[in-house]
Formats: sequence, structure tokens, C-alpha cells
Amino acid sequence: MHKSSASGPDSRKPAAGSTPPFFNPGLPFWGSRAEFNRDPLGFYLKGYLLNGGLFRTIQLGQTYHVLAGPEANEFVRRHSDLWDYALARAHFRENFSDRYLPQLNGTPHQGKRRRLSPAFEPATLMRHLPAMSGALERRIDGLGGAPTDLRAFARNVVTSMTSVAFMRSDLPPGVDDAIALFEHDLLRGASLGSLRRLWYARPSYRRNRDHVFAAIGKALAERPRPAEGGPPDLIALMLPDDGSDTPPPGPEEMVHDVAMFYLAGSDATSAIILWAMLFLARDPEWLAELRGELGAWDPARFTGLAEFPKLRATIMEVERLRPPFPTFGRAPSRDFEFGGYTVAKGTPIIHVISLCHFMEDVFSDPFRFRPARFIERPESARQLGLFGSGPHTCLGQPLARIQETLAIAHIAANYDVAFTERPSLEAKFEGVTTPLQASVQARLVRRRA
Ligand code: HEM
Repeated sequence: MHKSSASGPDSRKPAAGSTPPFFNPGLPFWGSRAEFNRDPLGFYLKGYLLNGGLFRTIQLGQTYHVLAGPEANEFVRRHSDLWDYALARAHFRENFSDRYLPQLNGTPHQGKRRRLSPAFEPATLMRHLPAMSGALERRIDGLGGAPTDLRAFARNVVTSMTSVAFMRSDLPPGVDDAIALFEHDLLRGASLGSLRRLWYARPSYRRNRDHVFAAIGKALAERPRPAEGGPPDLIALMLPDDGSDTPPPGPEEMVHDVAMFYLAGSDATSAIILWAMLFLARDPEWLAELRGELGAWDPARFTGLAEFPKLRATIMEVERLRPPFPTFGRAPSRDFEFGGYTVAKGTPIIHVISLCHFMEDVFSDPFRFRPARFIERPESARQLGLFGSGPHTCLGQPLARIQETLAIAHIAANYDVAFTERPSLEAKFEGVTTPLQASVQARLVRRRA
């Protein structure tokens, strides 16, 4: 499919004062958004191979500098104080409280992150494994063996698992679909540059967003008390205030934070679960090996992925091949130099966080589904960039990994996925890396014990 080579960006030094080259295979002034959406995994790789780790592109009429490749990742990681999150993530402030975590900088960000972090400790999340597993099984039982759209199914499974861990109960029927729509529209708006304000001003968008906030606010107020001797829910762990996070969270901030956790899982975690079902269905040999390892999968006995190398390798390979967000927006808080070019403060930047996933010299035969590569070289998981890096690295990664594990293991061990039509493995970008088909119809058929 695509070919990559080892050539890095810093081998060619530009003349002083020159600007990074353009990679813009789309329309002259409007740019290459459609080309990216059609080929989200290969588009920036082509730009990198032609131009190196810093180039420019146009998207919807706006010029962006693109940072891509291992040297760029290292540069971004080493200069974590360079990035202005309030500027790059202004779209979040337009939709949520001005204390919304991803758009905070410096000390306010550190204080708030410290307060939220206990809810995402792996050991803490493991205590909620039985509840999340129960939510997954209820969702599958609810299908009654009928055909369903696996995209919506995966989203709703993740929403239910998140709900029981954070609030001990599921949200009312229909709120999961409203959350999925909110996230879809939120990300769509974020990709529209300055046109996003018009998009977010649509009454239908605002109505749905407010409906989600109201439903979460009600669920928060009414959440059941912990059972005697049971673990505290994750919300309780986010509340203690040692004074390091000021001001302490008010009711609106709490609702928006909890919405953030639902939204992130609804789109991104569910995409990994969906892609895993698709890849496994197309690789019966690996599926058989995985099933051999899972045996009679029992989540109650699960203590970590170390005991399940094939399951771990499956998850890593799906995350590698279908990173939900291949790129992330950044903005520098001061001028900086990279690859011999100077980039001015405030320049809109696209950071291709997952480019290494598709570089031949990082992962051989990179466009092929071959989970065994993570058994041969377990340490290569360190090259995965899908959760970002630095002080803003994904807070929800441990939760995402546990939910992916539960869903992929339970479905692979106990169900055959009978697709109505043979699904394609081709991807497009729609706020998240997603299959080409608008819906992926299939039945989950219980395997004989
Ligand atoms: C496969 C699933 C997921 C992927 C690929 C993903 C990816 C990302 C990425 C790329 C970032 C930005 C990192 C950076 O700026 O360097 C991020 C931030 C974040 N993610 Fe995730 N995420 C996922 C699931 C989740 C889940 C399930 C939650 C919560 C329940 C979550 C909560 C967050 C939060 C709160 C931030 C902002 C952190 C901060 O600014 O300090 N994510 N995520």
C-alpha cells in the first residue's frame, strides 16, 4: 500500500530565512482536507517522505505547519513548556467551562490534573472491572442475537462501562446516542478552523449538548451510594481538595469534566474495539491463536495483560494500525527552530502523533495487521504515539486500555461476529479514524462452550 523509508528530516539544511516546503496535493487555496480525510493514515506520511519533519499544508483555506516523524515527536516531548494549550484548544473553551482540563496551561493544569488523576490509577480501575464487565455483558444480552450496527454498539458499550465505573449506574436510554452525537459534532467543529463558530452556533448542536449536560448533571446528583465494603466510585476520587487545585470545582465544572470522560471513550476507545472486531474477523488464524490463549476467559481472574501476551499484542496492533486521532493541533507560545526553520509564536501546527506507526524502519511492513510483532519485540509498544506525550498525555489511557481489554477478550472468546456484508478494512477520517461504511452490520453469535 504505502512505502516509507528511513530518511529523516534533518539531513537537509534549508537556506537561512527560508520557509518550510508546501505539501498540498489538494486545491490551491482551499487545501487538502478531503485528501487527508480519505487517507488519514497515509496522507502525512507522503508529506514527510517528500519534505522531512517540518512542512506546510493548507486545510480549509488555513495554512498549517506540520510536525511529523520521530525527531518531531522527540522535539515536542523535550519542549513541553513551548505549547500553548489555551490557544490550540480554544474550541474546548467555547463548549465547556474555562477550567476544562485539555485547554489549561501551567500551574492551573498541573493542579487540576493532580486532583483528577487518582480516578485513573490502574489499580483503582481494576476494582471496577467486575462492574464494567457486567455492563458489557448486559449490552450484548440486550442485542438478543439480532443484527446491529457495530459502530453504535461499541460506542454504547464503552459509555455503559464508563458510567458504572464513574457513577455506579448506567445513563437513561438514549443518552449514549446523544453523547456520541455531541462528540462527533464537537470534533467536526474543531476541524473546521475559524468556521467552527458557525457550526457550534447551530441550535440542534446546542440543544443536544445541553441535553447531555443536563442528563449527566442529574445522574451525578442521583448517583447511588457505594455498596458496603465496595470501592468508592471514581467521581468520589476526583473530589478531594487539598487546595492545590483552585478554585475547587463547582457543579458546572464537574458536569463538564464527567462529560469529557464520556465523550473521549465514546469515540476513541470504541473505535479501537470496533477495529479489533474487524481485523480479527479477517485473520482467522490469529483469532484462533488468541482464543487459545484466552481459554475460558474470566474477567474476575484478570490481573493484567502480562499474562496475556497475544491479547496485549492484538490491542497494540489495532492501536498502531488505526489510531483514533492520527494528528493533534498545537500552537507555540514563542518562536522556535526546528530542522533549520524558524516557526513563529502562535503558528497553527498539526502534530502527526502517529506517523511512526507507519514508518518501515520503525515497524516493518507497517500497513499489515501482524500482532505477533509485539510478541517478538514487546518494547516496540513504546513507539506508539496515539495517546500523545508530555504533561497533557491522555489522562484516560489506563481506562481506555482496560475497557479495550475487557471488550476485545470477552467478544473474541465467546462470540463469532457474523457480518451482514464482508466489511472493508479501509479507513477514513471523520473526527476519528473510522471504517468507510456508514454502518457495520453484524450479529454476535454465541460460540459453543
Ligand atoms: C483509545 C482511546 C483514547 C485515545 C487514542 C486518546 C487520545 C488522547 C490524546 C492524543 C490526547 C492529547 C494528548 C496530548 O496533548 O499530548 C488525550 C488527552 C486526554 N484524554 Fe484521551 N484518548 C483516549 C481515551 C480517553 C478516555 C477513555 C478518557 C477519559 C475517560 C480520556 C481523557 C483524556 C483527557 C482528560 C485528556 C486531556 C489531558 C490533559 O490535557 O492533561 N481519553 N487523549
